[in-house]
Amino acid sequence: MDLVERPRRNRRSDALRRMVREHHLRPADFIWPMFVVEGKDREQIASMPGIDRLPIEHAVKAARHAHELGIPAVALFPALDDAKKDRLAKESTNKDGLLQRTVRALKDAVPDLLVITDVAMDPYSSDGHDGIVEDGIVLNDETLEVLAAMAVSQAEAGADLVAPSDMMDGRVGAIRSALDDSGLSDVGILAYSAKYASAFYGPFREALDSAPRHGDKKTYQMDPANVREAIREVLLDEEEGADIVMVKPGLAYLDVIRAVREVTELPLAAYNVSGEYAMVKAAAANGWIDGDAVMAEILLGFKRAGADVILSYAAVEVAERIG
Ligand code: PBG
Repeated sequence: MDLVERPRRNRRSDALRRMVREHHLRPADFIWPMFVVEGKDREQIASMPGIDRLPIEHAVKAARHAHELGIPAVALFPALDDAKKDRLAKESTNKDGLLQRTVRALKDAVPDLLVITDVAMDPYSSDGHDGIVEDGIVLNDETLEVLAAMAVSQAEAGADLVAPSDMMDGRVGAIRSALDDSGLSDVGILAYSAKYASAFYGPFREALDSAPRHGDKKTYQMDPANVREAIREVLLDEEEGADIVMVKPGLAYLDVIRAVREVTELPLAAYNVSGEYAMVKAAAANGWIDGDAVMAEILLGFKRAGADVILSYAAVEVAERIG
């Protein structure tokens, strides 16, 4: 055959394939989300094999291990007793609350590890919503005050970045000015900019027992059918002062990652969410797929789509494998 172009020539050996490889997964790509809980014992999460709710001491140990593997950051989510939840998420600004104590312990033990905290009412809300609920409506502007106070409390505890995941309008701007007014202008904002109303969050809501007690989140999280709207959200967050923007979930939204990549110069994060993790683990446990290989392939897909940073529950196991 008289073929001038033979793409297979570049695939002939491992050395050649490594030399022309376009994208890589590195430990430095990851943010590892962690669930923390009061008490002394780790608690398993049935739908997230390998991921536990960790008491502070265990969280410190696990975070140190992640840091030693080269993972630059962890993202913290507190699992609270119902007794600590109320309509206004008051516990979220308790300077001796579980989250604040965890941040201090981590920054004490592993100062170089970035600690990212979630700004949203749901772990603290008796309604299981990300905002204040009145007569079945999630209020926007009233919620901004709660979010701003929560972000300041987290930053005062030592968070390096705060990460609003609530999807209220104007929250990035409100949080930025509250941080600046409190002398916390070095604290960054990782904005969950294009966060969809997704069924992939199921296992996370089991982990925190944070499912909405009534209704759903469709009046604030985005419609999975939309992509132009994601760009609108990202550009607004950028204008309001976001330092890093995010698309969430990731796997079913690779086109959104790509579209966002093309309109912003900010670093772009993508969240490999709990349901994505659970699906891989469940199929692997049945012997139906090679879980390690599938996980790596999915996460590499995030990089190829244009993500700079990946939040993944698999961060530690992947970092252990890629060294
Ligand atoms: C809520 C929040 C959610 C996740 C992160 N922050 C769930 C939700 O919006 O109900 C989901 C993450 C995951 O599924 O891994 N503020």
